Amino acid sequence: MSGPLVLGIETSCDETGVGLVRGQDLLADAVASSVAEHARFGGIVPEVASRAHLEAMQPTVQRALDGAGVRLRDVDAIAVTAGPGLAGALQVGVCAAKAYSLALGKPLYAVNHLAAHIAVDQLEHGPLPRPAVALLVSGGHSSLLLVPDLAGEVVPLGQTIDDAAGEAYDKVARLLGLPFPGGPPIDAAAVSGNAAAISFPRGKYRDGSYDFSFSGLKTSVARWIEARQRSGEHVPVADVAASFQEAVVDVLTRKAVDACRDHGVGHLIIGGGVAANSRLRALAAERCAAAGVAVRVPRPGLCTDNGAMVAALGAELLARGMPPSPLTAPADSSLPVTSVLVG
Ligand code: KG4
Ligand code: ZN
Repeated sequence: MSGPLVLGIETSCDETGVGLVRGQDLLADAVASSVAEHARFGGIVPEVASRAHLEAMQPTVQRALDGAGVRLRDVDAIAVTAGPGLAGALQVGVCAAKAYSLALGKPLYAVNHLAAHIAVDQLEHGPLPRPAVALLVSGGHSSLLLVPDLAGEVVPLGQTIDDAAGEAYDKVARLLGLPFPGGPPIDAAAVSGNAAAISFPRGKYRDGSYDFSFSGLKTSVARWIEARQRSGEHVPVADVAASFQEAVVDVLTRKAVDACRDHGVGHLIIGGGVAANSRLRALAAERCAAAGVAVRVPRPGLCTDNGAMVAALGAELLARGMPPSPLTAPADSSLPVTSVLVG
């Protein structure tokens, strides 16, 4: 293994993630999650997340260093998520990264969380194909991107006009009495359900755009459950989960394959927490194979938020000779996806 050792710090939401990457080899990926502290609220409470990051930061860095068998002074560069995300939560990671950068005298790369969700795939499947189409599906974002070169140019093709895909999973899980975050329990419940049991609407399915809409679907699931409950009938959780999930992944994969075909791109990369979904992975593989598109999805543990993805993007920018960020680089809760590195 060779190349510079990059420490990556991620604190945009509820995961304090610290990763260590040498070149594009993953050495350590330590994650401390505050999700249990938010569960009873049914969503992330920003202030609780910020405090949890503060407490978890140093121990998680230490755990990553121990896991990789390296010392802090071996680190050659520090990468950190500068945005998008929760303002206070981002601030904790950015401040920590600046402190490490200053104390070690090593460059700082303040990077985009969404671009990092794409870059992480390099750790598993090698250099990113250029160009590629990227489908990013998480708790806060659902975007289709044309990526001629992750370090140079990212072109937004479409995005959700209302709820993000992960947000829809979280809200529907709540309706079904399943725990937060809702993706994993819906994924699990759907396995024993019939995806054709209920025909839920596919928002913006054939509208010719690359935008998504999931709030109508969520409302439709809510109405369906209410009608059942009103008539005293039992709610078939597995069937609702499977039918809802099918509506989500049907639209996501259809538009992703359309984007590849329309732009003459032969590679699709899927990232973000929802990319951990088993049905999304299976349907994407099936539809991409039929369309002659090569699809890459990181393993589920690297799809949800983590520090390795930030280290992977930092390592890529460093290898490409990009100038580091100034120590004045701000955390930006609404950093646009086109801004891969904060200069
Ligand atoms: O990327 P991520 O960890 O955090 C954000 O940047 O938002 O994504 C979290 C989202 C949550 O909404 C969660 O319910 C969803 O990803 N998720 C899943 C699965 N695992 C996590 N959604 C569907 N199926 C899954 N297996
Ligand atoms: Zn994310």
